[in-house]
Amino acid sequence: MSHEKIILGIESSCDETACALVNEQGDILSSTVWSQYDEHRRFGGVVPEIAARAHLEKCDVLIKETMDKANKKFSDLSAVAVAGGPGLIGGVLVGVMTAKMIALSYKLPFIAVNHLEGHALTARLSHPVQFPYLLLLTSGGHCQVLIVEGVGQYKRLGGTIDDSAGEAFDKVAKMLDVGYPGGPNVEKRASLGNPNRFIFPVPMKGREGCDFSFSGLKTAVRICIEKQVMIDEETKNDICASFQKAVVAQMSDRLNHAIKIYKKMYPKGKDLVVAGGVAANKSVRDMLEQKAQSNGLIFSAPPIQLCTDNGVMIAWAGMERFLAGKFDSLDFKARPRWPLDAL
Ligand code: KG4
Ligand code: ZN
Repeated sequence: MSHEKIILGIESSCDETACALVNEQGDILSSTVWSQYDEHRRFGGVVPEIAARAHLEKCDVLIKETMDKANKKFSDLSAVAVAGGPGLIGGVLVGVMTAKMIALSYKLPFIAVNHLEGHALTARLSHPVQFPYLLLLTSGGHCQVLIVEGVGQYKRLGGTIDDSAGEAFDKVAKMLDVGYPGGPNVEKRASLGNPNRFIFPVPMKGREGCDFSFSGLKTAVRICIEKQVMIDEETKNDICASFQKAVVAQMSDRLNHAIKIYKKMYPKGKDLVVAGGVAANKSVRDMLEQKAQSNGLIFSAPPIQLCTDNGVMIAWAGMERFLAGKFDSLDFKARPRWPLDAL
């Protein structure tokens, strides 16, 4: 019998059904992601009922595939981890019930991972990031800055007061009809466009603290689109580029404040980390890299495929919890709302 510690992670909180196996060294033994883009594309966004049904159809198939790919049996596992929230309740329930069933049948420890903690800890799988680190967590559902002091220990410095950055990317993509999901399509077009053709506002710039706001920017893009007599491909690209520039400018300004607070609280702290779907964006990563450099910090970002939702992040956060002796009971209730600083 092998003594390798292995965790199965299951993710089903939004529009990706995903699972993965990781060991304690952070090796990914297998990883499978089923994106529901085709199911949601014609609606231009995620439809919760459709998502829940698709998770139900795919979850056990994907788990089997993931186990088979790594040539592992359930009895080889050390524990089962699942995203217990926050997210769409239907999907979270599918993952939680499935994970509980495996845990119960094979007498394995059960670990409910906060989806945001999954994002927050992912960089530690690929980089030697030390606690406490400064984290920009920017996804479809969230945009916040935190200090990650340890597993389950988060200090929130600020967050969006309206939309998340990912939501803004998705809404701009929908307004311009450039395809779903929005982020990658807007980024592709932005790389072809002129970021200086349109001047969009940078909400929150210069304000105290680390809060974000994206709804005014979204409205400015909408008004700009309405003003155009004709929107050709070049104009679409220029709007994408100008919009992305404004998003990055806001993040840069907010991070200046966050870094000051982080350095004051932790003079020896040296890591700046980004996570979440929007962390896949190259302009965001480049800006953060430069910012880290000019502030004497080390910048770490998970590989692109681990930024958007995946099973590895849940399995890895599960491993961190497992190694810290943090387990959950089978009475755990799925939590559609579950702030990180409530852990
Ligand atoms: O973390 P994630 O997969 O799901 C949530 O937990 O919300 O993030 C998805 C979000 C979507 O809004 C998507 O448009 C955005 O991340 N996103 C991007 C990029 N790739 C994904 N935004 C900007 N640039 C990208 N390359
Ligand atoms: Zn996510």
